[in-house]
Amino acid sequence: MKLPFAESYKIKMVETIKKSTREEREVWLKEANYNLFNLKSDQVFIDLLTDSGTGAMSDKQWSEMMLGDESYAGARSYYNMKSAIKNILGFDHFLPTHQGRAAENVLFSVLIKEGNIVPGNSHFDTTKGHIEFRKAKAVDCTINEAFDTVIDHPFKGNIDLIKLESVLSTYPKEQIPMIIITVTCNSSGGQPVSMQNIKAVKKLASKYRIPLCFDSARFAENAYFIKTREKGYQDKTIKEIVLEMYSYADMATMSSKKDAIVNMGGFIAMKSKKLWKEASTFNIMFEGYITYGGMSGRDMNALAQGLDEGTEFEYLQTRIKQVEYLGGRLVEFGIPFQKPIGGHAIFVDAKKILNHIPKEEYQAQTLACELYLEAGIRGVEIGTILADRDPETRENRYPSLELLRLAIPRRTYTNNHMDVVAVALKNVFDRRLEIKHGFKIVNEAPIMRHFTVQLEKID
Ligand code: F0G
Repeated sequence: MKLPFAESYKIKMVETIKKSTREEREVWLKEANYNLFNLKSDQVFIDLLTDSGTGAMSDKQWSEMMLGDESYAGARSYYNMKSAIKNILGFDHFLPTHQGRAAENVLFSVLIKEGNIVPGNSHFDTTKGHIEFRKAKAVDCTINEAFDTVIDHPFKGNIDLIKLESVLSTYPKEQIPMIIITVTCNSSGGQPVSMQNIKAVKKLASKYRIPLCFDSARFAENAYFIKTREKGYQDKTIKEIVLEMYSYADMATMSSKKDAIVNMGGFIAMKSKKLWKEASTFNIMFEGYITYGGMSGRDMNALAQGLDEGTEFEYLQTRIKQVEYLGGRLVEFGIPFQKPIGGHAIFVDAKKILNHIPKEEYQAQTLACELYLEAGIRGVEIGTILADRDPETRENRYPSLELLRLAIPRRTYTNNHMDVVAVALKNVFDRRLEIKHGFKIVNEAPIMRHFTVQLEKID
């Protein structure tokens, strides 16, 4: 008999999580203004709000913490991080930042100006926020297949080359400071970008002489999908694939809270020393001196170790298999979600489940609240609330997809937890027609409203 799959680690430390009653959750959710970000973590049983900074570090990462060098300038930990970035991603220059959006802030302060156009594949919301904050425009060039949850395309994060070339040929070179490829593409469902597509984008970028930037939060998961789904990569190691991916990039921003498996941290990496010099000034202003950039020495050490572990096949296989396990349970129950199963999360198709509720009442948010009430599980809306208002017209932007993202922290929950999530969602799915209404917004911020929005139930 073929042996079943099992995790490539064992557990050394545990944290208690609390169960609650539906009555308690009803009170808490109302107090939170139906915004799941406002809940206390103790009010949540299984927290799938994000896979960002929520993973479990390894014994080796913890031991690296003890070896951190906290010198203000020139710390050993900085050099550990530098050599990990050189060895794994191939970049000669880098700047530490406290997280991914800080990397965006520093890099975009150098490169993005008012009126600029930044094409990419469904830019993540902080990326888009940093672009729009500078009065520039993010243009989504993702392939159309990504916007249909039923199509089973292996690389739904791919950039549509025709869409991209039409942007590149419409605007002068000076107006396009960079093309951003997000690997994997979070907003389209943790969907990967193929090596073939990366190469083709690089070719276009070179033709129009535009730099190519990778938003790298989940770069290792992207490499796993290239290895397991793209012809010609089966026999390559993840580290070889990663090096090839980054050979096509001029620069990268990184939220290390994902694939470097740390609780906090980020960086910018680049090939150009000139760009590094320019960005250093902003790094010192916004983040900290260039050899710590908002991170403690111990955190830089853990990050360097995490980059190494996070690009090992066995670790990635364990991770992706857990996401697949949850997806498999949902298939069993007939619950619609973005196919194929992505890297870090399951994106449940709320538009299909709650299509009897008007989109103006926020279908994905409604589903997120129902799942919380059902079993204390916290997911996150990737729909109209996140899509924000158009910066010019101030009208709601209704995205093609209304998704409830269930992001799975790395090395944190067991498949028993995944079973609870699947059955809870099934229960909500089975009673979906009893859910008559969603929510209205009573208070929102002018940009990135989803973190702080306040909602009221429509009866
Ligand atoms: N880029 C991508 C693709 C991301 O997913 C994130 C964060 C960032 C940039 C920003 O990084 O949080 O370290 O500042 N994503 C988290 C999420 C918040 O839940 O998906 P950060």
